[in-house]
Amino acid sequence: MNAIKFKNNRLFYIDQTALPVKEVWKECLRLEDGWSAIKKLEVRGAPLIGVFAAYCLYIWSKGPVSSGKDFMRRFARAVVYLRECRPTAVNLAWALKRVMLAVEANQDKPVTQLREIILNEAQAIHDEDVLLCARIGEYGNKLIKSGDNILTHCNAGFLATSGDGTALSVIYAAHAAGKKIHVFADETRPLLQGARLTAWELSRNNVPVTLICDNMAAVLMAKDKIDKIIVGADRITAAGDVANKIGTYSVAVNAAYHKIPFYVAAPFSTFDLTLKSGDEIPIEERAHDEVRTVLGKVTIAPKKVNAYNPSFDVTPAKLVTAIITDRGVVYPPFKQNIKKLIGQ
Ligand code: MRU
Repeated sequence: MNAIKFKNNRLFYIDQTALPVKEVWKECLRLEDGWSAIKKLEVRGAPLIGVFAAYCLYIWSKGPVSSGKDFMRRFARAVVYLRECRPTAVNLAWALKRVMLAVEANQDKPVTQLREIILNEAQAIHDEDVLLCARIGEYGNKLIKSGDNILTHCNAGFLATSGDGTALSVIYAAHAAGKKIHVFADETRPLLQGARLTAWELSRNNVPVTLICDNMAAVLMAKDKIDKIIVGADRITAAGDVANKIGTYSVAVNAAYHKIPFYVAAPFSTFDLTLKSGDEIPIEERAHDEVRTVLGKVTIAPKKVNAYNPSFDVTPAKLVTAIITDRGVVYPPFKQNIKKLIGQ
C-alpha cells in the first residue's frame, strides 16, 4: 500500500484526514494543492512530506514560464513556499534542497531539461525512501523478540513514508518473520494519528493491535505490559535529541522510570547535524481549535478558552536507548556514534 502515487505524469495522494472512515484519493494539480495537502496533514509524516514536496516541484514546473531566468526565479520561490509549510520535519527541507541542488547545477540547460531533472530527482528520492524503510525494518527486527508487546506513538508507518514506515517497518518486519508481537497504539491527541492511521494500518496488515488513550501508557508500563517502545522522528540533532509528535517526550520519561527500552527509528534524512541540541529545533504550533474540538467536528471546550497546541516535542538523547537507522543501530554515546554512522 502506498500513500502517494506518481502515475502517467500525475501526482495522487490518499487524503489521510479522511481515514479510517473513507479512502479518498486526490490529485495534486497545482503547487498550491500540494502546499495545502501538506499543511492540512492530508499528506503527512516526515519522510512522506519530503517525497511529496519533491513531486510538487515537478507539478509546478509543468506550468508556463517565459524564459530560463524566469523559471529559476519562480523555482526558488516555489522551494521556499513548500519548505515553510511545516517547519519541524527536516525531511521536507532536505528533499527540497536536494532537488534545488540538482536544478542549480544545470541552470543553463533548457527548461524542458530542467523539468526532467526535477522529476528524476523526485523519483530518486521516492525510490530511495522505499529502500531506507526496508533497511530500518531489517536492522530493527533484530531487536524484537517473539512475545514482545510494543508501544508506538503517532503514525510512523506506510502512511508516513514511501515504504513500510520507520517505527512500523520494524514491526512489519518482525511480524513477517513470524514473531508473535502485539502493538499498543497511543491514540495521539489532538489529531489522533495513532487511532485513525496506525490502528488502521496495523489491523489492515493483520498485526495484533490495541488502541489506548495517551494517558493509559504509564499504567500499562507499571503493569509490565510493555516490553519495548518504538517511535519515529521528525528531526534528530547531532547530540541525538529527537523531535517527534507531541506526547513522545512523556512516553520516553515514563519508559525511563519503568526501565523499558525506548527506540527511535529514522532514516539518515531525518538527522540534522547542523543542530547541536534539541532546543534549536523549530516546533510547529497549530490552531487552537485542534485542541478545543475533536477533529474540528465536536466541540469539547468553551469556544474562547485559551489552548496550547505544539505539534511536536523534543525527547532528550539521554532518554533514548538507541536509534534504528537505515545504516545500522546507533547506541550512546550518540554524539560520537551519530557522527560515525551518519557523518556530515
Ligand atoms: O504531524 P504529523 O502527523 O506529520 O507527525 C508525524 C510524526 O510525528 C511521525 O511520528 C514522524 O513524522 C515519523 S514518520 C516516519
